[in-house]
Amino acid sequence: MKKHDEANRIALDLLRKKQHKDCFASPLEFLLDEHMRQRALFGLLDNLSVGAHLGAAYLEAVICFLKSDFALHVLDEEEDLFPLLRRRVNDDGQLEHLLGKLSSEHLRDRERARLILIGLNDGAPFSIEFLEMLRDFSGSERRHLIVENAIIIPLARACLSETDLVMIGVRMAARRGMEIEGNLCLN
Ligand SMILES: [Fe+2]
Ligand SMILES: [Fe+2]
Repeated sequence: MKKHDEANRIALDLLRKKQHKDCFASPLEFLLDEHMRQRALFGLLDNLSVGAHLGAAYLEAVICFLKSDFALHVLDEEEDLFPLLRRRVNDDGQLEHLLGKLSSEHLRDRERARLILIGLNDGAPFSIEFLEMLRDFSGSERRHLIVENAIIIPLARACLSETDLVMIGVRMAARRGMEIEGNLCLN
């Protein structure tokens, strides 16, 4: 039980962690860091899905993370990383197939995140269908992260230039209302 409490507390700290603008100097590391925070979210959702009572502070952190960090992360990939990879990688369509799959997962999980937020804000006891959705969301998102960590981020490391990285870092920071030096335009 204590082990569980400790894991939950670590997850809570990760969800509450605020980014400093220096993180955007290394945008790929930042994305990996966000994946780690998302794993913390999925751990808490798994606990909720088996009927654990996490308490108000946990629910608040989960709601806040889903509303802001999770949604912004999808935009970082859809509006910055994926379009830039499409421009820089020429591989006869294999990457396009993979990015198309990841984008359709983004779309599906953005909708599920919206439904989860409604359910968590509702205050009513969770239905069986809702608990199943929490499990499905965590499971499919974990698989999504495995692909991004194993293929997309290493590909970005290999194919994006220093200038590209500065550019997407500036755009990610701007998305969060922070200003760092560099050019906002994707060329
Ligand atoms: Fe993604
Ligand atoms: Fe991601």
